[in-house]
Amino acid sequence: MKLSTFQQNLNTWQGSTLIFGIVEDDLKNQLEKINFIIDSNLLLDKINQKNFKGEIGKVLNFDFFNQNLQTLKIIGLGESKNINITNIKNSLADVIRKSADKDEKISILFPWELINSLKEIKSFGEIARLSTYKDNRFNSKRNDKKVLKEIEFLNLKKFENISFNETEYICEGVELARRLVAAPPNSLTPLEMSKQASKISKDHGLEIKILEKNECEDLGMGAYLAVAKGSDLEPKFIHLTLKSRSPVKEKIALVGKGLTFDSGGYNLKVGASQIEMMKYDMGGSAAVLGAAKALGAIKPDGLEIHFIVAACENMINGSAVHPGDVVKASNGKTIEINNTDAEGRLTLADALTYASNLKPDSIIDLATLTGAIVVALGNDVAGFWTNDNLMAKDLMRASSQAGEELWQMPLQKSYKDGLKSHIADMKNTGPRAGGSITAALFLEEFFDSSIKWAHIDIAGTCWTDKNKGINPSGATGYGVKTLVQWIKNKELSNE
Ligand code: BES
Ligand code: MG
Ligand code: ZN
Repeated sequence: MKLSTFQQNLNTWQGSTLIFGIVEDDLKNQLEKINFIIDSNLLLDKINQKNFKGEIGKVLNFDFFNQNLQTLKIIGLGESKNINITNIKNSLADVIRKSADKDEKISILFPWELINSLKEIKSFGEIARLSTYKDNRFNSKRNDKKVLKEIEFLNLKKFENISFNETEYICEGVELARRLVAAPPNSLTPLEMSKQASKISKDHGLEIKILEKNECEDLGMGAYLAVAKGSDLEPKFIHLTLKSRSPVKEKIALVGKGLTFDSGGYNLKVGASQIEMMKYDMGGSAAVLGAAKALGAIKPDGLEIHFIVAACENMINGSAVHPGDVVKASNGKTIEINNTDAEGRLTLADALTYASNLKPDSIIDLATLTGAIVVALGNDVAGFWTNDNLMAKDLMRASSQAGEELWQMPLQKSYKDGLKSHIADMKNTGPRAGGSITAALFLEEFFDSSIKWAHIDIAGTCWTDKNKGINPSGATGYGVKTLVQWIKNKELSNE
């Protein structure tokens, strides 16, 4: 699906679905802009009959027959003085999504003169593309509906030289993450994940290393391998590197939890624990690979970026880890596994150690780590922890620019006692209370403390059961946009 512009004389425009934005102002005047396709006086009568004044979020639908234009949707944008992307995002997303399986092209005409920045126009492109995303890969009846191929912006005169290239790269990254997360666990295995990473490497020239099980053993990754050994599928440790053309000013590692399925292990997920949804337990690694794809195309300069995923499954067989086993991670620390369902942090222990050995300036890890974060923040907001105040500020800024909600959580040192073990250096699970905080405190044991670090728990945000804003129901691709924005901000500030 592509984003395009139509900058020629509107009298020569052709299309059958048009979304027309109106502000709360002189309606007659605004409707004249649409005379190229329909008699605005007639339309004004109809609109007045429906008592529509351009109120924000209000939508009118008109269907026509026997002419080129088949569907006209008029969407209220609210008061012209505070026309703002955040206010109209959700209603635009809904309107566009509803038109998406009816036509191959949707065209949009808004009062662009009221919108000041190129960035905002690009956000419209992003909203349009991401809210109409569809995934028919696993459906045998995929051909009954029309597939949207193009979203066209009409009359963007003020922004004549606009290019949607970067917007499209970012959307492709988000869409890759969504596809990875939504793929069932018998399709997206650790091996398949490593193939997806190889494809990113080939398409965008990133270096790639896939460590096999024996290589991970040589590196002493006893925590990661303890999780993997209950599965019949081989683990794959994925490491992509995006090099810089000019000298490197900053080195960054992005680490993602990559459990292609989490059964819980011998602490099996039972009752309402939603075992059937645990294909999405690789949401963190999907965000990291999505960011690798987007950044591979954008090619930020002056930064060396490492993308790391310790991919495996958490399953049960005769050699699966026992609750109570003690294992040793690659940094030498020993862990008593008092709960096999707290497996994500075990895989991250070795992935973070590996990242730390690359001596980056900063590490961000993303993980569907705890049910506790869902209880704390729900499904719209992800929680993050960091050991650095500037990192907190930068991440909050990036997430708000990206339109992904994030909330800082405390690295409450007094809770560390909850991870004390009688037999090993630590346990992998603390008490129920503050469960996502002890998980973050556990992770902090596995990298050099001089490295700036943030951990983002996306257990609540990586999936949505219902259409919500720019996210159609299913995988959201949460995290890709924030990571890319955070990197882009770094590139700018290093210039
Ligand atoms: N993958 C789960 C966390 C999760 C829960 C993600 C719900 C998405 C939705 C993780 O591996 C897990 O099982 N965590 C346990 C930790 C507990 C045993 C300390 C949890 O949150 O229940
Ligand atoms: Mg688990
Ligand atoms: Zn898990």
